[in-house]
Amino acid sequence: MLRVCVIGLGPIGNRHARIYKEDPLSELVGVCDLRKDRADAAAQALGVPAFYDTPTMLATLKPDVCSVATGGYEYGSDHCAPTLQALDAGCHVLCEKPISNDIAQAEAMVAKAREKRRCFGIDLNHRFTPAAILAKKWVDEGRLGHLLFMNMSMWIKNPTESSPYFQLKALHPHTVDIMRYFCGDIVAVQCFATKAPGRTIWSTATFNMKFANGVVGTLTGSYDIERGHPMEYCNVAGTGGRFVIEDMYREVTLYPAGSAEKTVYSNPVFGGMRDFEDTFRNRLHRFLEQVTAGVAPEDIDGSGASGLAAQKVLAAAIESLDTGTVVQVR
Ligand SMILES: NC(=O)c1ccc[n+]([C@@H]2O[C@H](COP(=O)([O-])OP(=O)(O)OC[C@H]3O[C@@H](n4cnc5c(N)ncnc54)[C@H](O)[C@@H]3O)[C@@H](O)[C@H]2O)c1
Repeated sequence: MLRVCVIGLGPIGNRHARIYKEDPLSELVGVCDLRKDRADAAAQALGVPAFYDTPTMLATLKPDVCSVATGGYEYGSDHCAPTLQALDAGCHVLCEKPISNDIAQAEAMVAKAREKRRCFGIDLNHRFTPAAILAKKWVDEGRLGHLLFMNMSMWIKNPTESSPYFQLKALHPHTVDIMRYFCGDIVAVQCFATKAPGRTIWSTATFNMKFANGVVGTLTGSYDIERGHPMEYCNVAGTGGRFVIEDMYREVTLYPAGSAEKTVYSNPVFGGMRDFEDTFRNRLHRFLEQVTAGVAPEDIDGSGASGLAAQKVLAAAIESLDTGTVVQVR
């Protein structure tokens, strides 16, 4: 069983910690937050010791795995330091998204994991659903034929106005990862954005994407729409047919080209995904499973390298928004 620590105990770190406590592959052994009140509250709720700095926790507990669920500016500025500390201590690390909005920091994190030969995953939880895994199998089996285009969209309400690019940086690590998961590397991007009434940031945006394999795609996202109805849509099409995933896990439908028949997978009422939190359960469990099985760091699902690739697309999108040009992803 893997000994696991959680660093950063906001709502998301507490969620990670609860999930590790319940997962049969892990034993939660400690929690750490710079804020004593948060560390103490989580420690008391979970029955593990509290720490107030990462190096002390790592030296004392010597965990096998650490979750880094810190946040910071634009939800990502506090990920790098504890990730490097945990990797240096020999831990496998699962870091929240975005890996970092600072590309140099993200590259340093991926390089450190490579140097230490440790598994480094990002919580790209939206793709860890039975519906997405089945759709990926259809793609890999060639059921869609030659891939042509994809349309991705995600929308929630988030009134935070922390920076002009907050919506692009905080929402789209997920959507860009889903696009890359199904259609591969993205090589060029063009972005337009708008501000909903009363907002000062680019709260709604659309992106045109060109993929390395010739696929073309669009992405639309918004922080301006209250939840209640579905919040995510994914359509991938090829010469052999297309699929649509509704709301991450609720339903995936395969529409074979030239046929009136379709295949529908619906999330089971009993024994299926219960809610959004199950996307975290699945993602964390997959990381534990792959570390336990000794999967090579470069082969793990939702890796740091995938997180970095998504951030490079977002950096290009922001440059496109600022310059009004199509930007190559570097
Ligand atoms: N995967 C998802 O679907 C999803 C959804 C929401 C949020 N998130 C991500 O989860 C992360 C955390 O979100 P949150 O809302 O819980 O954030 P939060 O700001 O409420 O909590 C982060 C905590 O980390 C602590 N911290 C910062 N640096 C630290 C360090 N070096 N050592 C120890 N503690 C440190 C802070 O004191 C704070 O208590 C963000 O990166 C966010 O993008 C992911």
